[in-house]
Amino acid sequence: MNTAMIGPINPPPRLLMGPGPINADPRVLRAMSAQLVGQYDPWMTATMNETMALYRDVFRTANEQTFLVDGTSRAGIEAALVSLLEPGDRVLVPVFGRFGHLLTEIAQRCRAEVHTIEVPWGEVFDAEQVEDAVRRVQPKVLAIVQGDTSTTMCQPLADLGEICRRHDVLLYCDATASLGGNEFEADAWGMDVVTAGLQKCLGGPSGSAPITISDRAAAVIDGRKHVEAGIRSDDDVDHGARIASNYLDLAQVMDYWGLRRLNHHTEATTMLYGARECARLLVEEGLDAAVARHALHGRAMLEGVRGLGLAVFGDVEHKMHNVVAVEIPDGVDGDRARAALLDDFGIEIGTSFGPLHGKVWRIGTMGYNARKDAVLVTLAALEQVLRTTGGVGAAQEVYST
Ligand SMILES: Cc1ncc(COP(=O)(O)O)c(C=O)c1O
Repeated sequence: MNTAMIGPINPPPRLLMGPGPINADPRVLRAMSAQLVGQYDPWMTATMNETMALYRDVFRTANEQTFLVDGTSRAGIEAALVSLLEPGDRVLVPVFGRFGHLLTEIAQRCRAEVHTIEVPWGEVFDAEQVEDAVRRVQPKVLAIVQGDTSTTMCQPLADLGEICRRHDVLLYCDATASLGGNEFEADAWGMDVVTAGLQKCLGGPSGSAPITISDRAAAVIDGRKHVEAGIRSDDDVDHGARIASNYLDLAQVMDYWGLRRLNHHTEATTMLYGARECARLLVEEGLDAAVARHALHGRAMLEGVRGLGLAVFGDVEHKMHNVVAVEIPDGVDGDRARAALLDDFGIEIGTSFGPLHGKVWRIGTMGYNARKDAVLVTLAALEQVLRTTGGVGAAQEVYST
């Protein structure tokens, strides 16, 4: 390859209507083009504090420990689980899609004793099922996904905090796919740790994982603090079993975002600007208004695909507002239809994983793309593609041979 001929980045215009990432809000991209400032500059630390305050509003929490983990959403998940779980700790994971399996695998890598319960893809758990398992397993942590993008289901969470308190269990939730587009109440629902990402309903790029940590979870994490050599002071005493990751060591990261400003890592400043703008836009719109917007455009997309004669997968009563799984009709090549949408219309929709691979398309209406024009253009293009890849396409192929 003649690298001297490589041009600047110039992506093709695309409308990203899959399960995320979606097109970032232009205001977020503009925020991300702002110049860098030193990480301990008073302007920067004030900006970090503003970001913490904004995410308290987004998560609906008063938790002091509300900040960003640098990395994609799974960095937030790993930070939460590796900082909470010591080898041998019991954790319970209710699995209703791919991301429950991800929590399971990350907890296994923490060398925890992992217990799972499962429902078929397309369903969610009721609170009694979860409480029965909590009673049986007696875990230290219950780790659950709110919206599992692989199935589009949104797990009801409102009763789980109380169950966890009754059994003295810490409650962790992965709200990556749902936060900002579906009701979420970290404090009212008794959440201990919640993590998210920017690339779904928050309207940003992936690469930053907002997190909130209750006081009782922060105390558990702080109880494992080992400040690294080279930055520790004489007052630092090692506690508990050392957290198995340095980068994702929330005991140190809390000290970095806190008054101490521990020099743990170099701020990912551009991602911080983007994450701050995502939260600022949501707060400016109002969380309830943003959820209502996702509900409206999600319902329009749902009725739209039904109007095209397509069936919707799963328990629609428990579907996330921001994504719908559409059953690929018999006789239609799902990958070919997706390719036609991309090539002819510049529109991306998703496929799915595991048992749903090749069976459904996933169509998102989230973040910046939870808009009437985006919904209508996607449906119009899909209608056209179905005409040319379905029955008419098959007949055309007969004539062209
Ligand atoms: C529910 C959920 N959790 C975790 C992830 C992983 O996020 P990332 O790919 O940003 O690490 C995703 C990504 O789609 C998700 O939908």
